[in-house]
Amino acid sequence: MTIRILGIETSCDETAAAVVEEGRMILSNVVASQAELHAQYGGVFPEMASRMHVESIVPVVDQALAAAHIGWDDLDAIAVTYGPGLPGSLLVGLNFAKGSALVKGLPLVPVNHLEGHLYAHWLQTGAEGSADGNLRFPVIALIVSGGHTELILVQDYGQYERLGGTLDDAAGEAFDKVARMLKLGYPGGPAVEHAAKLGNPAAIDLPRAWLPGTYDFSFSGLKTAVLRVLQKYTEPVPHSFYANMAAAFQASVVDVLVEKTARAAKEFGANAVLLSGGVSANGALRDAARAEMTLPVYTLRKVLCTDNAAMIAGAGFFRFQAGDRAGWDLDIEPGLQLT
Ligand code: KG4
Ligand code: ZN
Repeated sequence: MTIRILGIETSCDETAAAVVEEGRMILSNVVASQAELHAQYGGVFPEMASRMHVESIVPVVDQALAAAHIGWDDLDAIAVTYGPGLPGSLLVGLNFAKGSALVKGLPLVPVNHLEGHLYAHWLQTGAEGSADGNLRFPVIALIVSGGHTELILVQDYGQYERLGGTLDDAAGEAFDKVARMLKLGYPGGPAVEHAAKLGNPAAIDLPRAWLPGTYDFSFSGLKTAVLRVLQKYTEPVPHSFYANMAAAFQASVVDVLVEKTARAAKEFGANAVLLSGGVSANGALRDAARAEMTLPVYTLRKVLCTDNAAMIAGAGFFRFQAGDRAGWDLDIEPGLQLT
């Protein structure tokens, strides 16, 4: 029997629903982004995000079923993100999933959002080729997004060891904040990457937080360093300054991410590296990871890097096969980790 799972994801500012077959074949993948709404605040406004989820969840799920050309009766389970994320946002998706599962008589599968980012690599991605079928564990996963910077040793399906993570800002958050300082817009990652293409990373000397002996990261000092340099300038700031600053900042983040990932891959004898999360869409990060490591480095199509529900349905499939079912008392876990 072919297992079809409806995935629901509302952990941050994307209301998303998707239908995935056997954890690999994407039948539909609908994402309603609130990025434009939050752009005016320069970051995600939690209260607004949860209200928008309430408005969008029903049409987004309807659209996902319609695009997959299936009805509720064709589904085998509903997989939903229960953490980590913003409490008010997580609650909308979780309660909708619970209500639907109850009414439609479907099993409910709890999914850790970070595991979703990981299992995005099992989805069939066409030209880029997925990790599925090619992977031998252990592998090292770097999950870098607006909310997370996690370095994970994946020993097997569902077996993780968290090696380290950010002590302050997430990598994507740092991109967003620096983009705001440089007046480049929101979300900041793509804007900084674009500006950096015209800049010289060596033109401005920025620090790198190596935190020796750990696999942890810290980006708040870098952010402050950017601000200090910026404050020394008086208007009008030459255009080339912004491009150079974007390039120098990006190089600092990429250097630390890649060096620690490469070190972990070596120490734990990894057979491959998986890059996931919104920041993994960054071309400089992808290029540097491939240049630094001889191991296969798997990356994703952009829609599968950023938050989406196909990855939740994908991870949900593996959980479903392992017999994981949530009771009606399943609650959100905003601080959930991958262990
Ligand atoms: O995975 P995601 O959609 O949401 C979270 O779970 O947070 O990641 C969004 C983050 C934002 O901070 C955005 O600025 C960053 O990913 N991002 C990028 C790029 N595209 C998105 N950062 C650097 N370079 C990019 N090209
Ligand atoms: Zn995410």
